[in-house]
Amino acid sequence: MSEKRKTKEYTEVSEAQIAVHWKEEEYFRPAKKFIEQANARDPDIRKRFAIENFPDCFREYADLLTWSEPYKKVLDTGKPPFWKWFVGGKLNACYNCVDRHLGQYRNKAAFIFVAEPEEEPPLALTYQELYVRVSEMAALLRDFCGLKAGDRVTLHLPMTPELPITMLACARLGVIHSQVFAGFSGQACGARIQDSGSHVLISMDAYWRAGKLLDHKVNADIAVQTAEEMNQHVDKVLIWQRFAGKYSSPTPMVQGRDFFVNDVLKKYRDQRVEPVPMDAEAPLFLMYTSGSTGKPKGCQHRTGGYLAYVAGTSKYIQDIHPTDTYWCMADIGWITGHSYIVYGPLAIAATSVMYEGVPTHPDAGRPWRIAERLDVNIFHTSPTAIRALRRAGPEEPSKYHYHFKHMTTVGEPIEPEAWRWYYNEVGKREAVIVDTWWQTENGGFLCSTLPALDPMKPGSAGPPVPGIYPVIYDEDGKEVTAGSGQAGNMCIRNPWPGIMQTIWGDPERFVNGYYKRYCKNPNSKDWRDWPYMAGDGAMQSADGYFRILGRIDDVINVAGHRLGTKEIENACLTVADVAEAAVVPVTDEIKGRMPEIYVALKPGHEGTPDTINRIIKANEEIIGRFARPKHVYVVPDMPKTRSGKIMRRVLASISNRRDVGDVTTLANPAVVEDIRKMVQGKDAVVSGEAVPEDIAKFGQND
Ligand code: PRX
Repeated sequence: MSEKRKTKEYTEVSEAQIAVHWKEEEYFRPAKKFIEQANARDPDIRKRFAIENFPDCFREYADLLTWSEPYKKVLDTGKPPFWKWFVGGKLNACYNCVDRHLGQYRNKAAFIFVAEPEEEPPLALTYQELYVRVSEMAALLRDFCGLKAGDRVTLHLPMTPELPITMLACARLGVIHSQVFAGFSGQACGARIQDSGSHVLISMDAYWRAGKLLDHKVNADIAVQTAEEMNQHVDKVLIWQRFAGKYSSPTPMVQGRDFFVNDVLKKYRDQRVEPVPMDAEAPLFLMYTSGSTGKPKGCQHRTGGYLAYVAGTSKYIQDIHPTDTYWCMADIGWITGHSYIVYGPLAIAATSVMYEGVPTHPDAGRPWRIAERLDVNIFHTSPTAIRALRRAGPEEPSKYHYHFKHMTTVGEPIEPEAWRWYYNEVGKREAVIVDTWWQTENGGFLCSTLPALDPMKPGSAGPPVPGIYPVIYDEDGKEVTAGSGQAGNMCIRNPWPGIMQTIWGDPERFVNGYYKRYCKNPNSKDWRDWPYMAGDGAMQSADGYFRILGRIDDVINVAGHRLGTKEIENACLTVADVAEAAVVPVTDEIKGRMPEIYVALKPGHEGTPDTINRIIKANEEIIGRFARPKHVYVVPDMPKTRSGKIMRRVLASISNRRDVGDVTTLANPAVVEDIRKMVQGKDAVVSGEAVPEDIAKFGQND
């Protein structure tokens, strides 16, 4: 990147030179009552996971699991950066999450499902019942679909118990599941079916969202058609019914291709399927995420290392005990749900709440009523949800008699003010908060305070979690020191068991995207030469706490969901009138960031409200409703360099009411003022506030 940067036609500031100023926040200390019961209350945990003990320290996490064959080596670095963990070991993820708990916890709830309509009573699924249902579904997948270990299956399921049942049934057979967030469109799902090479799609007829029973089956048809157009044939579409025995979608079933799971399952009633012992390195699942190019990346997670890592972090960072009632309000369609609703909590015999719908439905008191009714004591959500709940009902939490001992925030930087509301109002000053920083690629938490051992600091993710050794590098690979007030690129020095194995079908992209930039010696087999680059800007204060500043690449984090700018631009270009499209992130009070779209039309076309609607619709159809832009601007021309590159950084400055800087070297400097007036009005509205780093740096690599 630094070489590329030298060719820039504008003066630029290197990342390390951007000194970020913010007020050092005061510490908050965990309550005595919390400390006394915590899983990690012995400060020796840091010594056990000291770098001198790496990689053997991670045996402690592997020991949380039941292995059908013990591993022979903790870490194999033979083919960097394709690390292998717990080499030679065999285990089954489903067995570890379900079967092995039956002795002690047979009749304890594994999941408590809360439907969106408030009149539907919560539904508890015991470990025994989960075992039976998973086993029947595994029989169906094996015998009706012919699936076996190593095959991929795409799931496009909403937040109902059928989702973890299907995932665990796959894991029982060693089938690699690829769950696509239900809010993704049929087309987005189809592209992921094609990339993963799935022949089976598992979906649901309908689900509740914001008071509406949405037709979801229609997306399955679009997904299959999209995959077929990309030369991937889907043999079978399995449709779960949101209300078993009743079809809730107006979209017809396709004879010979579509099957109701509930009907087919009758054949497999009470069948027991033995869990298949899998190699520790066998892929467990794929989780697609956005990158800076248009094509989503299938992050491939391994069985042994991943499960050990999420079990360990669920125990020590989430502080889950089998007697707790734990609620992570994320969607299982994202990595947070895979790691911290399904695999991590179940591996340590948790009782985990699943909520189908929108947190503010029918009002902002809903989460607190659920917490009160189910006596939830661990709560896990995102800054976007915290902001939305705070705006809609700042006093709501105080009306309900629940008590959290522990709360998590994840997915985006949280403003200290929102953090304090979470602490004071939601947590009632009793709950400890962990701000957990990590990514889809990482499997589990990378930075967070240890809840009983470290003080909390609003807005800071905190120190690294045990066994993780981060480093911040500047543009030239020099370490940025703690307390220097400088920002740089957040990296991790060492491998860890939760890191993905590779990008499905694209190992080169894996190496180039995460390791190439700071690799010290491409021929080395020493992990010390292969730091992992996260793609986030960060700084470390003198106390060692990390503050994550946002993405440094062309990824926009919308409400904690990653969207690639290229994905959005490609969607815009499917609208026939659009000649060029550029997407920039804009700050949003609730969602953190939102995409804002600039388009230039082909000659002879005029920007009408209809054009704008078609652009919005294209994004909803190709990506999903959550990709809806904040604004679409039709501009006379894009600001461009003399070599013809669109200057996204100029557009980002305009959208965010920042000074556009020196634009005189552009090929068409005059257009900048035209666009500025269109967006900001006649008078310049330049904010004096410090520029968020992801926005300050956005588009600098164009
Ligand atoms: O920019 C960071 C931000 O979310 C990105 C990862 O997004 P995703 O892969 O979708 O995973 C989200 C849930 C693990 C990161 O690169 N991010 C995540 N957690 C935090 C965060 N930013 C600040 N603070 C966090 N706690």
